This record gives sequence, structure tokens and C-alpha cells, in this order.
Amino acid sequence: IRFDSARFLTSAQMLSQCPEDEGFEVAFAGRSNAGKSSALNTLTRNSKLARTSKTPGRTQLINFFTLSDGQSRLVDLPGYGYAKVNREMKQDWENYIGEYLAERRSLTGLILLMDIRHPMTEFDEMMVRWSIETEMPLRVLLTKSDKLKKGPAKNAFLTVRNQLESQANWLSVQMFSSLKKEGVQELEAWLRSRLADES
Ligand code: GTP
Ligand code: MG
Repeated sequence: IRFDSARFLTSAQMLSQCPEDEGFEVAFAGRSNAGKSSALNTLTRNSKLARTSKTPGRTQLINFFTLSDGQSRLVDLPGYGYAKVNREMKQDWENYIGEYLAERRSLTGLILLMDIRHPMTEFDEMMVRWSIETEMPLRVLLTKSDKLKKGPAKNAFLTVRNQLESQANWLSVQMFSSLKKEGVQELEAWLRSRLADES
């Protein structure tokens, strides 16, 4: 799999608008502003692939990107907890992302991004519980690792790792920085294990 072959496929606002549910899909989830779109761009070496923004709530649709093997897709989910959206919109978010997670047969893995300075929010805990209940392989990325010095970054990593790895062996964690291009190979290796991989 060549991650730099990623191309935008389509956007969906509801399950019925998603591409055909076949092949393999890994979704990027996390709180608004956690760095999902940036991580996708770093991974695919394409700074224009997914829109990024200083304003949380940039991504409001489910965006699908296809890889050149024709079988694998990466999915940018809208951020959770965008402060400016009202309660009704939050409910919508939960319904439609919840539906995607529950119904999507081709979903073989989940990347959960957390700002390394604020890991394991209530939303993150909810996603971890969901992954445990459904036995969905989950990779946590502690993003913006460039924002902390080495010591504190390592401490955050070890705390989250202890918390996750004691719960299920399909949960794992790594550090990631789009700014410093850190953790890219580790992420690629994990994704290869979840997608159709021939190379
Ligand atoms: P939503 O689409 O709103 O859910 O946000 P998102 O999770 O897609 O976040 P996005 O990638 O747009 O990044 C949010 C902000 O964080 C932007 O200003 C990025 O430049 C910044 N950012 C993302 N990754 C990193 C990183 O590794 N290091 C630093 N220092 N900043 C980052
Ligand atoms: Mg985004």
C-alpha cells in the first residue's frame, strides 16, 4: 500500500451516501482540533488532501479517501465536541457517526487522535469503550507531541499505554506529530495490518 496514492473519493452526510461497503476502511476519529485532518495529510504526503483549520469544527462531513490498491480507504470523521455547535447538532453527530461505526462492515480499524496535552477526555473514553465492546482494533495517536518536552511527552504516553493495554490487546498507542513528521512509519505499519496489504 502506498499512502501517498490517496485521492479524495466522496463526502457523506449520512450512511446512505457512503461509498459501497466493501474492501477495507480505517477511520480517523477524535475531538475537534485534535489533528485528524493534519495527520491524514502527513500520512499521505499531501498537504491539500484534507482541509485543516485553526477553527475547530472544520470537518463536518465524513470524507472518504481511496488508496491506489482499489480496496482500501481512509476516512476523516468530523470532530467531536465542537464547542459552537448546539446540543441538537451534537445529538446529530452522535447519531450519524454512531450509525457509521455500528453499521459499516468494511471498517477494520479505528485511529483515535488525542492532543497529547489533554488525553482521554470523556469522548475518548467513550470511543475506547466502544472499541472494547465491538473488538474493533484501535490505535491511539497522541498528537502534537512537539508541544511537550521529551519527559512530559513520555509520561503522557506511558500513562495512556498503561490504561489501554490493561483493557484489551487490540488497543495500542503511539506518539505523533504532523509538524515534526514523527510517528509516521509506526502509523503506516499499524494501518497496513488493518488494510488489504500486498506490499
Ligand atoms: P476538526 O476537523 O475541526 O475536527 O479538526 P482536526 O482534528 O481535523 O484538526 P486539524 O488537523 O485541522 O488541526 C487543528 C489545528 O492543530 C491546526 O491549527 C493544525 O495546524 C494544528 N496541528 C495539527 N497537528 C499538529 C502537530 O502535530 N503539531 C502542532 N504543533 N500543531 C498541529
Ligand atoms: Mg478535520
